[in-house]
Amino acid sequence: KTVDVNVKSSDVQWHQASVTHAEREQANGHKGAVLWFTGLSGSGKSTVANAVDRLLHDRGCNTYVLDGDNVRHGLNGDLGFSDEDRVENIRRIGEVAKLFVDAGTLVSTAFISPFNADRKLVRDLLAAHQFIEVFIDTPLEVCEQRDPKGLYKKARAGEIKHFTGIDSAYEAPVSPEVHVKSAEQSVQQCAEQVVDYLVKQGLLA
Ligand code: PPS
Repeated sequence: KTVDVNVKSSDVQWHQASVTHAEREQANGHKGAVLWFTGLSGSGKSTVANAVDRLLHDRGCNTYVLDGDNVRHGLNGDLGFSDEDRVENIRRIGEVAKLFVDAGTLVSTAFISPFNADRKLVRDLLAAHQFIEVFIDTPLEVCEQRDPKGLYKKARAGEIKHFTGIDSAYEAPVSPEVHVKSAEQSVQQCAEQVVDYLVKQGLLA
């Protein structure tokens, strides 16, 4: 299932786009960037990402959300939750996110993305200001108590194997651009914390 990213056919050449990235950003009135949400299942990644998306959209920004569960229904429907499949999951999302950034979009991605090395791989695909790691830092006990899909219960019962936080690792970000403590504030406050960061960085008009 994994793709060797280093294998490139010598018969494939990069085609220069006629509308430049700078022109696209100018038309949008803001920079393109990926807001890379990471956190445990049930931490609130999708909820906060969607709240941020709403705030940005209402400001007139060109936005999109790539969400773990949804992408696994389509593009990554062939991938499971082994370490190998999670690596490939994040690699593909990184490449898709890069296309959105090239289009000048503020794209929010909501994937557990449990491994530091994979998140770094995506970071390295982009320019420094284009990758914003947003750590949705919610304690495992809180996620497990919320258990919105009943998955922790199943994982504890041994009905789901390799569940993040139970029998599969989650490596917390070392120095995320935005560190959100979702258990200590409302969804709206979490979303505003992210948007405030973008404003301070001069990424919005
Ligand atoms: S990863 O680790 O980044 O590849 O995972 P992701 O693509 O974000 O998918 C996470 C969602 O899949 C559901 N699910 C599981 N999560 C973790 N471990 C296991 N074994 C698992 N099996 C299914 C779960 O609903 C996750 O959704 P969120 O929104 O994170 O709760």
